[in-house]
Amino acid sequence: MTYISEITNVMEYEALAKEKLPKMVYDYYASGAEDQWTLQENRNAFSRILFRPRILRDVSKIDMTTTVLGFNISMPIMIAPTAFQKMAHPEGECATARAASAAGTIMTLSSWATSSVEEVSSTGPGIRFFQLYVTKHRNVDAQLVKRAERAGFKAIALTVDTPRLGRREADIKNRFVLPPHLTLKNYEGLYIGKMDKTDDSGLASYVANQIDRSLNWKDVKWLQTITSLPILVKGVLTAEDASLAIQYGAAGIIVSNHGARQLDYVPATVMALEEVVQAAKGRVPVFLDGGVRRGTDVFKALALGASGVFVSI
Ligand code: GLV
Repeated sequence: MTYISEITNVMEYEALAKEKLPKMVYDYYASGAEDQWTLQENRNAFSRILFRPRILRDVSKIDMTTTVLGFNISMPIMIAPTAFQKMAHPEGECATARAASAAGTIMTLSSWATSSVEEVSSTGPGIRFFQLYVTKHRNVDAQLVKRAERAGFKAIALTVDTPRLGRREADIKNRFVLPPHLTLKNYEGLYIGKMDKTDDSGLASYVANQIDRSLNWKDVKWLQTITSLPILVKGVLTAEDASLAIQYGAAGIIVSNHGARQLDYVPATVMALEEVVQAAKGRVPVFLDGGVRRGTDVFKALALGASGVFVSI
């Protein structure tokens, strides 16, 4: 039995979550795709990077504050979008929003949240980004982006690595489906708000039915026609795509492999970071998510050129 008072690092929450959560829920949060090679590599790659420390610098005054897309935050650590947070706690994304505000940093709300953009906004002030999945129903997407804008969200993080859901074998075995008391709150009442139980992962079937697999660079332009919010392209792993993202108007790039939950055998994000930073040439900020568990990981990402990191909670 692990007690919360005994926890000294983020990794230890994982054991606690495993004890507390139903297996289907724990597996959904914890799994990567297929062999989970990239899942391990996201961590291993950080552990291969060593510091070359310099000494006798005056470090008596430390300032971790930074600016992201013009917003001042307390530290270069922001909250990544993760779906279905109410499976873990009844307050779900609203509690995360309050925690992010209290910590003085940015929260990104998932399209697949179990709390709506309006509910999250009603928790009080805070700087929030909205993660967007583009569906086959562009009118629904456009309405949702408008709602996020009205609810005070400050940027759109466009997920670009999910034309199909990654093959997450635990979810397939568990026949993962959203527990019946929860809904995809942003789509409540709409035909895309329901995830059915299938003999596969219910989420994989949902994605196959609802997500627009034709999504391409022109759609980054389309998004700019429906919103004036800055767009972060989330899911870039190469210099080529970093250049294209900038060419198509991205205000920032998130180097992400979707927490290793999409294509397996892609590099750890911290390995892809340098080539993306080089391609960006300082024109837009580059952020990273994936495998960040400690302050030293954050420091490594910053040293390699990231403007900040996103962590999943
Ligand atoms: C949601 O984005 C997921 O990866 O399950």
